[in-house]
Amino acid sequence: MATFTERMGPVLLFWLGLCLSGTWAVDKGNFKTCDQSAFCKRQRAITPGESPYRALLETMELTNTKLTLQLINDNNKVRLLLELYRLQGNITRVKINELKPLKPRYEVPDVLIREPPTEPLSLLSQDENGVVLSLGAESQRVIVSARPFRLDIVEGRDVLMSLNSRGLLGFEHLRMRKDTFSYKVTSTVASVWDNIKRVFSSQADPEADNKEATDPPSQVETTKEEEEKVEDGMWEETFKSHTDSKPNGPSAVSLDFSLPGVEHVYGIPEHADTLKLKTTDSGDPYRLYNLDVFQYELYNPMALYGSVPVMLAHNAQRTTGIFWLNAAETWVDISSNTAGKTVFGKMLDYVQGSSETPQTDVRWISESGIIDVFLMLGPTPREVFSQYASLTGTQAFPPLASLGYHQCRWNYNDQEDVRAVDAGFDEHDIPYDFIWLDIEHTDGKRYFTWDPHKFASPKEMLQGLMDKKRKMVAIVDPHIKVDTNYKIHNEIRSRGFYIKNKDGADYEGWCWPGSAGYPDFTRPDMRAWWAGQFAYDQYEGSMENLYTWNDMNEPSVFNGPEVTMHKDALHGSWEHRDMHNLYGFYVQMATAQGLIERSGGVERPFVLTRAVFAGSQRLGAVWTGDNAAEWDHLKISIPMCLSLGLVGISFCGADVGGFFKSPSSELLVRWYQTGAYQPFFRAHAHLDTPRREPWLFGPENTALIREAVRQRYTFLPYWYQLFYHAYQTGEPVMRPLWVEYPQDPATFALDDEFLLGRDLLVHPVTEEGARGVTAYLPGKDEVWFDIHTFQKHNGVQNLYIPVTMSSIPVFQRGGSIIPRKLRVRRSSACMEDDPYTLYVALDNRRTAEGELYIDDGHTFNFEKREFIHRKFSFTNNVLSSVNLEPDAQFTTKSWVERIIILGASKPSKITLRTADDQENQLEFDFDASMSVLTIRKPGMNAGADWTMTLQ
Ligand code: GLC
Repeated sequence: MATFTERMGPVLLFWLGLCLSGTWAVDKGNFKTCDQSAFCKRQRAITPGESPYRALLETMELTNTKLTLQLINDNNKVRLLLELYRLQGNITRVKINELKPLKPRYEVPDVLIREPPTEPLSLLSQDENGVVLSLGAESQRVIVSARPFRLDIVEGRDVLMSLNSRGLLGFEHLRMRKDTFSYKVTSTVASVWDNIKRVFSSQADPEADNKEATDPPSQVETTKEEEEKVEDGMWEETFKSHTDSKPNGPSAVSLDFSLPGVEHVYGIPEHADTLKLKTTDSGDPYRLYNLDVFQYELYNPMALYGSVPVMLAHNAQRTTGIFWLNAAETWVDISSNTAGKTVFGKMLDYVQGSSETPQTDVRWISESGIIDVFLMLGPTPREVFSQYASLTGTQAFPPLASLGYHQCRWNYNDQEDVRAVDAGFDEHDIPYDFIWLDIEHTDGKRYFTWDPHKFASPKEMLQGLMDKKRKMVAIVDPHIKVDTNYKIHNEIRSRGFYIKNKDGADYEGWCWPGSAGYPDFTRPDMRAWWAGQFAYDQYEGSMENLYTWNDMNEPSVFNGPEVTMHKDALHGSWEHRDMHNLYGFYVQMATAQGLIERSGGVERPFVLTRAVFAGSQRLGAVWTGDNAAEWDHLKISIPMCLSLGLVGISFCGADVGGFFKSPSSELLVRWYQTGAYQPFFRAHAHLDTPRREPWLFGPENTALIREAVRQRYTFLPYWYQLFYHAYQTGEPVMRPLWVEYPQDPATFALDDEFLLGRDLLVHPVTEEGARGVTAYLPGKDEVWFDIHTFQKHNGVQNLYIPVTMSSIPVFQRGGSIIPRKLRVRRSSACMEDDPYTLYVALDNRRTAEGELYIDDGHTFNFEKREFIHRKFSFTNNVLSSVNLEPDAQFTTKSWVERIIILGASKPSKITLRTADDQENQLEFDFDASMSVLTIRKPGMNAGADWTMTLQ
């Protein structure tokens, strides 16, 4: 038996290290640079130039839906198989694998929502230099050049994207270890060769030294011309005290993409960096490797908790995207021929006629797997979102309550604490929907249990919340305490569901509970079992208002290499290396499935995750992990969530107030004001920080926080409709300005302000002591109304707005109609039947339109078309409400209690005509100084047809 100190040593040392580290700074030494990651170093060492790859045109096969073609590496004669598909919706898919790998290489499962439907490909021309294929509509062609191999996607006369144009295609074929097998070339039958290789590769036989093998026969050439160099890190790699055994040897893949005409690329979250990605020539590439990074630093390309291998490229003419479907550790290099040039410099080039076309070059490098890349060809931002959604799905439509405010801290100590905090919200008249319990609520970090003393009667606690129409989230992490008295552990172990270490025993690592096992969530049977644990009769103390938070699912392993799992751990026959970035995705998938199943498939789940991959948008919400109570961390929450939104993950937020450290009251207020306009709105704080419930900072600050949270609640109808739209289309809820103003270069790098949908522009205050901010108001035909003062401003301008502590600048776009609920109550559910106020902001043509979506707020019945979806429009002085989806059915008690028209002129009378042809004259007020018309108590049901005429 290990002593307590032996068992807990690594955890204690880890935390001691953290606590002693004092000043805020990530310990970079804990995480690899590209140079310390052998495959990244090897691949990055390949410099641009002539590619050794040649397309063997004589091997080309073209069916109606796919082109296949062999590529040969002239240095080592290894052949690859290229497959090219034209997918529906203007997407081209390129897959490259070894023609005959020693054993199968990992292909990412479960991320694509289906086998993407194809469209016909047709041959336009062919000669000994290459082939030209037509990519269906829009005069698009793909040109495959043979020597060296490259692919160009061309539309009209424009090259949209080129692959391997810099000759950086790299494909490390699986091989036998040089120091255990020697190669001698003779000719024999291919199948014999394949069999021999299979036998050799399946046995990790150290005795196998000096066995002779033969090369495969081929019609082309069989001689190995060049002995392959064995480099350090190919068969084993050591980082700090960890050695990664690499039984499969080198297996990296890489490819370059050139984007002519592009100066702005975005996406590849998660990084704590600007929205517009930076060039990486002078430092490390952006890294995608899900990691638990303590005290992460801002404005650098280091990996964080999530990895979404999707990049968007944008210029004033077109938006495109690259989706690199690979779940292994990945690095992305970006370079640009205009980087570092000032606008003036570019102008000078232009005037002097010396300007070259701007171009961004990117290069993706992954440790293993295959090349499977989707080229999403736009041309508009919306089309790229829909192309990506057609591959990986859209944002899960969340329960309405989860769009309200969440109160969290590590930890609410006991049931009495929960009761008191809950009461505090009532006392201070601040709405909230969810209170959260962190790891201390469990019985010794055994998830699915409750501390028997502090949380002795969880159902009573949950019932208390339910009586107030409030809910709770409890944490369930994926590391499982190794403890034979713990049912969950025993079951996972006896079913053989744990991930194995390289020697085949259950993998164990250190995390919150001490020694822990990590369930193999890649297994469907494991996920089904896990989902079953959320059943009410399995998860004791749970009730329908208890939801789930999955943390540490990178996975975090305190004593593992780079605080995560050993890459040579095994998921069945696959190495963890192959699918590391997918682990958290699967954890959230199994958990969401559990919440759905416990309700018999009726209720929508809410699951928060820290680790994400492509497709995680289908499963719930994400937050940006352990930030700090610092102004820069408030600022970075904007680009971090914008970047996630661009790759489909709309339900994003940052810990309000900052996780580590203690915010000043000014920072806390500013953070609430910002968080109220970000999709996932949750305050959270580290165990060691002083308490910071909203009423602990004096009455003035309480009032400011109350006002920020209330503003959030007034906009819930708009948030809900935006999420419904995101669920339908994949468009981000919180979006950069360039998405709506794609031709305006002034928006391309903006990340201190953002749009919610099309209609709300938010410019948070992220500077200490700020007296004002300068907001960019886009759109030369647009007008923008300050939502607080109703003052109207024209786009395009940089507008200086003085600010006080009372609010941050938010504008409603002229031309929009936003439904709000102004009677703020205890929680969103308490507001269900409340009436609406319509804010109609007129544009320069005196028109406006908007939508309203209503359903029961929590079930999947909307899939059975039980909802109301209305369209409001204002044109020619007539405001009307029409049914957008007439086959949908739902009833609401809510009515329209007020209409506020911004930018209006004074009517002499207003007549309401209802669906049954009744006419009523309505009362109104007109504020001539602000041109605001307020129509009182028009009284229509929110689901009804009506028109209102202003005369
Ligand atoms: C991690 C999470 C943090 C949580 C803590 C304890 O650090 O990121 O949000 O409070 O673990 O569970």
